[in-house]
Amino acid sequence: MFVLIRYMEKRDIIIAIDGHSSTGKSTFAKEIASRYGMIYVDTGALYRGVTLFALRNGLINGTGVENPEKLYNLLQNVSLRFGQAAPGGKSELFLNGENIETQIRSLEVAGKVSIIAALKPVRDFVDFKLKEFGVTGGVVMDGRDIGTVVFPDADLKIFMTADPKVRAMRRYREMVTRGEDADFDDVLRNVIERDFMDENRENAPLRKAQDAVFLDNSNMTEEDQMVWIEKIISEKWKSLKKN
Ligand code: DC
Repeated sequence: MFVLIRYMEKRDIIIAIDGHSSTGKSTFAKEIASRYGMIYVDTGALYRGVTLFALRNGLINGTGVENPEKLYNLLQNVSLRFGQAAPGGKSELFLNGENIETQIRSLEVAGKVSIIAALKPVRDFVDFKLKEFGVTGGVVMDGRDIGTVVFPDADLKIFMTADPKVRAMRRYREMVTRGEDADFDDVLRNVIERDFMDENRENAPLRKAQDAVFLDNSNMTEEDQMVWIEKIISEKWKSLKKN
């Protein structure tokens, strides 16, 4: 253990970022990964990938999944992995060799992913993959249960939130910028509904881990957040080296 800590570098730690939807977790996690030379893992993308697979196989009906075990069994023969569409490009999700990055961001997938992410067999499938990513350390993962379930021993845990109205406004502006037809009240309702589903599902509900550092970024810019996290990482690093 002594040798491991002695030769460990800042970039070898595991950082778990959990929190409410539309708090900018992935932008934040990607920026940390890029500044420290770590790998970024978008765990929500895996739940979205499983959702696309379930939709394509007709396993989701109007209200849910009739046979979660069947889905789990089919998933055993599925390759779901991150790769680069172009050399040096950003990491994208591939399902059995097909780049599905665009499809997993569709409204159809977004509308069903909470149902899929609530299923225990699906969570087991995704958790297994995530734990493999963590074996070598040096990862920043964002999600809902990374610090509580997937990596309860992560070196640093952050719990992110922001006022629902602020989050809804950020999303609304993004949608308008993309030329989508958006209504602020609908977006706000959706943010509140997603918080409720994430916090109240039976399997791995969204919770702040006891030892997570709380970040409310309602009134912060992305640069403010980076100044904040650099200080936290330095402090954490000092305490890791002492132990
Ligand atoms: O972060 P996102 O919007 O891409 O997440 C998609 C869905 O997956 C969302 O319903 C929350 C869920 N999710 C989860 O349950 N656990 C995670 N670790 C990551 C995402």
